[in-house]
Parts: sequence; C-alpha cells; structure tokens
Amino acid sequence: MPLVTLKEILAGTREGHYAVGGFNFNGYEDAQGMINGAAEKRSPIILMASLSACRYIGLKQTVGMIRGMAESVDIPVCLHLDHATDYDYIRAAVREGFTSVMIDASALDYETNIRDSRAIVDFAKQYHCSVEAELGKVGGKEDHVVVDDMSATFTDPEDVPRYVEETGIDALAIAFGSVHGFYKREPKLDFPRLEKIVSLTPCPLVLHGGTGIPVEDFKRCVRMGMSKINVGTEFKKAFTDTLRKMCAVLPESQVDTKKYMQPVKDVCAEIVKGKIDIFGSADRA
Ligand code: 13P
Repeated sequence: MPLVTLKEILAGTREGHYAVGGFNFNGYEDAQGMINGAAEKRSPIILMASLSACRYIGLKQTVGMIRGMAESVDIPVCLHLDHATDYDYIRAAVREGFTSVMIDASALDYETNIRDSRAIVDFAKQYHCSVEAELGKVGGKEDHVVVDDMSATFTDPEDVPRYVEETGIDALAIAFGSVHGFYKREPKLDFPRLEKIVSLTPCPLVLHGGTGIPVEDFKRCVRMGMSKINVGTEFKKAFTDTLRKMCAVLPESQVDTKKYMQPVKDVCAEIVKGKIDIFGSADRA
C-alpha cells in the first residue's frame, strides 16, 4: 500500500482499545524485519527514523526504502520522523515524502512550543503529512535529545486542551513517567494523570520510552486510551546482541553477510509481533 499518514493510522485507536506501535529503525535489516512482523500479524505499523538515522541512511534513501517496503505489503505503514528539533530538516523530510513528523519543541516555553508546532503543522498540511508534538518533557536520551532527571517534567493536563486546539497537531506525546533508553529503576507511570489527559482531549496520545515498560502497564495504558507506543532501544539491543552472537558462532570462512543479518531481521520481526499482541493491533490492518 502507499504510505499512510499518522492521522489515518491512528484513527479509531482509542475507540477500538488498541495502540499502534511506533518502532525506531536505523537501516534496512531492522526496518524490513519490523514490516515483516507487522504483515504477519496483519497490523498497522509506524516506522520511525530519528534525525541521526536519516542522516546515516540518507533522507531520500530513507523515504525510498520504506516506501518500497510499504508498497510490497498490504498493511498500512506510516513513515515518521522522530524527535526533530531542526525545523529546516523537518521541512526537508516533509517535502521528501515522510507521512508524519514529530516536532520536539518540548524544551521551549509553552507559548513558543505552541507557535513553533503550529508553524510546522501549517507547513506539513500542504503536503498531506501529519504532525506529532510534545508537551512536558520525557526524561532520558533519545538520539540528540537528552533530558536529565531534574529537567524531566510531567505534562500538566490543564495545558493540554489549548495546546491541541491552537497547534492543530494530529498526535500528542505526553510525559507521565516513561523514560527514553534503559530504565535505571522500575518505571512508575502516573496513571491518574493519563486518565485526566484522556478525558480532556480527543487528540491521539503517544507514549515515548516504551523499552522496559512492563506488559501490564502497556495494557493498562492502551485500555485507558493510549494510541501510539514508541519502542526503540529494545531493537538496538536485540540487533547488536544478535549480530555479536552470529559473529561468535559463524566461522571466519563464512563471508555471506546474509547469514549474519537474517537472524537480525528475524529478531526484529519477533519483537514487533510480541508488541502487537500486547498493544492489541493484530488484524486491524
Ligand atoms: P525507547 O528507546 O526508550 O524505547 O524510546 C523510544 C522512543 O520513545 C522514541 O521516540
């Protein structure tokens, strides 16, 4: 299928009590594995590229690669630019064919966050591209965005309605206890805060920092109305662990790179299938 927007892929998630996984890829193998996993489960999927992933693969090449993969399967696939703070780069990604972008103006004050996010929405709309933005600050490290424990701030529910209304965004990333990267301690999600935010806006909500969240917490978030759940670090760990293992088990004489990389693809597909079962998005394609 042609790539779909974030707005299209998240439509009906809250009412249908499921969430669509947003998965960070960094190259061909993990992306292909993710799409294979989703296709097997007949689930929609959001493929997310960080700025550094786009710079590594090439912007044009990222779009061409994912578009080609999407067109070879019959499940909805959205190509999303994750945590972008460089507005020129966001515009370039939109022009190139991304069907969703995240503007991360969460480090700025409330009014500036609204102004800048609104400007990106106005631009992206001309290209039939969706926009996700963040209110509050999710802690941890995601690509070039680093938020230490002291600076992480939970989303204030009272700030949400005006923010959604004035920016015109298609999805809202909220901070309520999840952290990017590995958790240093057991994650403690603020469910009453999530409940309040859900009650105050119909805008699809996004959970960042999915790696390490316990299954029951994921399920509770989805039941409460979470629409998109981001997972990145878990894939990087599985990718590097698998590659290291293949290098250890295969003899030096083995120079067929596919023998090393096929298990990487497979492990990414397995993780995606597991998450789809938890998020409830199987057979929603
Ligand atoms: P993790 O790397 O913690 O899974 O977070 C991913 C994410 O939220 C990307 O925006």
